[in-house]
Amino acid sequence: MELIFPTVIIILGCLVLFLLLQRKNLRRPPCIRGWIPWIGVGFEFGKAPLEFIEKARIKYGPIFTVFAMGNRMTFVTEEEGINVFLKSKKVDFELAVQNIVYHTASIPKNVFLALHEKLYIMLKGKMGTVNLHQFTGQLTEELHEQLENLGTHGTMDLNNLVRHLLYPVTVNTLFNKSWFPTNKKKIKEFHQYFQAYDEDFEYGSQLPECLLRNWSKSKKWFLELFEKNIPDIKACKSAKDNSMTLLQATLDIVETETSKENSPKYGLLLLWASLSNAVPVAFWTLAYVLSHPDIHKAVMEGISSVFGTAGKDKIKVSEDDLEKLLLIKWCVLETIRLKAPGVITRKVVKPVEILNYIIPSGDLLMLSPFWLHRNPKYFPEPELFKPERWKKANLEKHSFLDCFVAFGSGKFQCPGRVLSIWWVSPSQKGNAELNINKEYDICWASQGPGPSAGVAPPHLAAPRPELYKKTLLHFVLGLSSRTHSNGACLWYLQQ
Ligand code: HEM
Repeated sequence: MELIFPTVIIILGCLVLFLLLQRKNLRRPPCIRGWIPWIGVGFEFGKAPLEFIEKARIKYGPIFTVFAMGNRMTFVTEEEGINVFLKSKKVDFELAVQNIVYHTASIPKNVFLALHEKLYIMLKGKMGTVNLHQFTGQLTEELHEQLENLGTHGTMDLNNLVRHLLYPVTVNTLFNKSWFPTNKKKIKEFHQYFQAYDEDFEYGSQLPECLLRNWSKSKKWFLELFEKNIPDIKACKSAKDNSMTLLQATLDIVETETSKENSPKYGLLLLWASLSNAVPVAFWTLAYVLSHPDIHKAVMEGISSVFGTAGKDKIKVSEDDLEKLLLIKWCVLETIRLKAPGVITRKVVKPVEILNYIIPSGDLLMLSPFWLHRNPKYFPEPELFKPERWKKANLEKHSFLDCFVAFGSGKFQCPGRVLSIWWVSPSQKGNAELNINKEYDICWASQGPGPSAGVAPPHLAAPRPELYKKTLLHFVLGLSSRTHSNGACLWYLQQ
């Protein structure tokens, strides 16, 4: 009897605890966890994440949790959850990305947390509207130089062509004049290593480096390159006004606040952030426009009406002229809408209620700009490339359409957003000298870059190269320059 009584108490206690836990779990969103411990549904999710998210939304409703690689990722797809993601103080950007930054650039978590806000404020200021004019001169000079290097005739895969233009233009403008290699072998190496690093960035952010030999080799190559070049980069200040480039200003903060050994790591992170959107956004903008003959015609007519017809070697472009080319800006934004990041993330730091569910602290709250931009409630006929939908946005004030979240949102929204739209859109380029007297054939050897870009739009499936002949570079000139990208499409699997 003496023994039975405590046993009954323990059993009852366990039962009450179990029921309480059950109740608590009842208030959690449905969880897709699979049967493999720790890995959960990691394999299925990793194979095709975007499809996985959409199928789960249809099956489980607007909010659901995916358990993979030891992480609980709770996806929100409707207004209430989106508002919490974008505005709540109970969710945190820095804690969500610190591990990714550690794995991909070897920046220790304490260093990242200590420097992040200061660096962010500097980057946002330097790339903000007031300072954009500082990039104008060098940007157009660099672009012109790269176009000259390309020659006047030739055939190239569009993806390759965009890379050949944008890698050097971006690096030389944001990092340091003449930093991009000029020797053919080195250029090839740069391209190869950057592509390898960018393509497997999502895996690199979660798997041990020993499982990713190529990726790890590329990471080391860039870290060594920065280590070798940083003294030169720091020494070479602008002769005109002694102003610093984006990288110089970053290194200045990193070395004042921590130690020199972190400089190459921040160099790599900034390189990736700035380049990884450039190729996809520029490529897809060109691809969409070229595959819509009516839009292509309107863009070309706009360019000719502002700059005159092709034939002159060099053309002076004033800011007023460029303001008239609003259609190109809409095309860039419409492309970014369709090729938006797969997911962005925040860490839940205090339990938060969404649609009567309680999301526990420790979860990663996930939002998919890619799918949000395909919700017909917010973007009618979402799969169609319709630049004119941007007529409604107040672009002069840099405000986008409702529910456009390609650049994230809140305190740490992408600091490069104004620059990147301005950069690929000539409507903000002042006093550019552009040569529009070139001919180039392009082909579609590859399907196009970017994680959400693995599948070409159906109308690009059977390209008609003759359509692009002679017009490509005219268009590139109107549009090109650059932006970073799939930075956008981080698969933040690891918190
Ligand atoms: C089409 C172009 C671009 C897209 C779609 C894009 C997208 C994004 C997104 C989604 C984030 C995360 C924001 C969040 O979670 O709220 C981000 C962060 C960031 N982006 Fe971009 N970005 C673009 C261009 C650029 C450019 C040109 C730069 C130039 C360096 C840049 C630098 C950064 C940096 C440094 C961060 C991290 C901010 C932080 O640590 O707080 N981005 N970007």
